[in-house]
Amino acid sequence: MNKKFIYVLLYSLVAFVFSLCFEACSEQPKTEGPIDAQALFIKRCATCHGSEGNLQLSGAKNITVSQLSAEEIKNQITHGKAGMPPFESMLTVQEIDALTAYCMKLSGR
Ligand code: HEC
Repeated sequence: MNKKFIYVLLYSLVAFVFSLCFEACSEQPKTEGPIDAQALFIKRCATCHGSEGNLQLSGAKNITVSQLSAEEIKNQITHGKAGMPPFESMLTVQEIDALTAYCMKLSGR
């Protein structure tokens, strides 16, 4: 084995490690396809609102009869209100938008 070969080998190894790191470090937040609002609702909101939105646990309001506008709903999911926690740091803006639309749908609008 000559020296040159070892250098080439070493160089490609270093390049490979760098490329791995580059990929890992430049990873963007995942935006895989459309957001599944129903699954998200069940995961994040059903503990108080139930999977249908009408459970009303821990003082939660019945979403199926909500009169709030989409803007007000979005605001409430983002910043919370009374017994409802803010979801600003837990959900992306896109997820909050999807959940807002889902709440509008639950309340038949
Ligand atoms: C820890 C319990 C809890 C969780 C989890 C929760 N909520 Fe709430 N939610 C409440 C409570 C309590 C209220 C009533 C607040 C008030 O007094 O106005 C409420 C009210 C609402 C309202 C307003 C209904 C109306 O007509 O006033 C909407 C819409 C809503 N929640 C959506 C959501 C969504 C979407 C999620 C998931 C991202 C969620 N909530 C998660 C407790 C919760």
